[in-house]
Parts: sequence; C-alpha cells; structure tokens
Amino acid sequence: MKFILTGIFILLFSLVTVAICKINELKNIQYNQPEFADKKILTVYYSHNGNTKNVAQNINYIVGGDIKEIELVENYPNNIFTMSLLIRKQIKDGYLPQIKDIDISNYDIIFVGSPIWNFSMSLPMKAFLKNNNFENKTLIPFFTYSGVAKKRKIVEEIEELTNLKDIKKPLFMFENGICLVKQQIINRINNI
Ligand SMILES: Cc1cc2nc3c(=O)[nH]c(=O)nc-3n(C[C@H](O)[C@H](O)[C@H](O)COP(=O)(O)O)c2cc1C
Repeated sequence: MKFILTGIFILLFSLVTVAICKINELKNIQYNQPEFADKKILTVYYSHNGNTKNVAQNINYIVGGDIKEIELVENYPNNIFTMSLLIRKQIKDGYLPQIKDIDISNYDIIFVGSPIWNFSMSLPMKAFLKNNNFENKTLIPFFTYSGVAKKRKIVEEIEELTNLKDIKKPLFMFENGICLVKQQIINRINNI
C-alpha cells in the first residue's frame, strides 16, 4: 500500500512539474534590454555533451542574431575517464586545443558559452577567447555546470584572455535545467 501511494505521489509530482514547465515555455518570451537595440548579436558556444548547446540555442531563440559552435580540430575522446585525464594534463601543461576559426568581426554583442571543466571554463572556450579580438565588443559569458566553479577566477581569466576590463557577470546554469531555462536567460539579460 505504502509502495502504491509513493508511486502515485511521484507520478502526480512529475505531471505537475511537466505542466508548469510547459506553461512557462508557452509564455511570451520578450526581454527588455535597451542595450541590445540595433546591435548585431552572436551566440558562440562549445559543448561536449549538449547542455551548453541547449542553453546557447535558447539564448539565440530569445535574442536573435547568429549562433556558431566552437569546433575542435581534433575532438576529445568520448570516454569520460580518458577525456578527464587528457584535460587534466592539458591544464597542467598550459595547453590550449586547436579550434576552427569563427569570424566575430561583424558583431557588437557576443554571448560566449561553455561547460565548466575542473572548476573553470573549458579549454576550447579559452582558445576561442585567446584567438579573437574583442575590442569594442560586449562579451556576455554563460556556463553550464553541476554546481561547483571558481566564479571570480573565471571572470579574471576571461579579462586576461580578452584584454577586456568590464566583463558582464556570467550566467551560470545547472546542467539539468530542463525547466525555466528561458526565464532565467531573460532575467539575466534584463539585468545586464
Ligand atoms: C571533464 C569534465 C570536468 C567537469 N568539471 C566540473 C566542475 O569542476 N564543476 C562542475 O560544476 N561541473 C563540472 N563538470 C560538469 C559539466 O560542467 C556539466 O555537465 C556541463 O553542463 C556539460 O556541458 P556540455 O553538455 O555542454 O558539455 C565537468 C564535466 C566534465 C566532462
């Protein structure tokens, strides 16, 4: 009996959660950010498992403009253990992976997204920031993660790599954020 009641409770809870998510998804997704008026916007992201891609696509859907993926010349191994070992070695050696060029010259506002790796931004995002000139551009970083990151150090690293002094406060999104993703993005954009 206790087992059946627990099952019914979980089912009802899931249904209510899905319903709330759906209602929020259907809400009018307008943002109010005068700084974006008449500006050319680009969303750039690196994503290994798809979470950051999902957030990037939501940002692009909300703000418009273009979206581009940071692609590696040589992909990381799929095996998480091998990949983690390689990333750890690359961080220790100060190595940045080779990435394919992305032309950012036509854009004024650039959202740049990445997963958090080892408490910091991913190495492909570091390579992207290092390879490009962000002079006179507004950079808005965003990250997906499971909850642990050196947030202040990340901002310092971005400033160092780009030579920019006034980085916008990054948006951090939980990796399993299936619900309210758009709302969180809009709230962040409205408060830039
Ligand atoms: C090699 C590796 C290291 C990670 N390190 C961290 C970390 O330090 N802190 C954290 O909160 N999440 C960490 N994560 C979790 C990812 O940041 C999270 O799953 C992210 O949403 C993945 O994004 P993606 O699906 O776009 O690749 C790590 C994941 C991987 C694969």
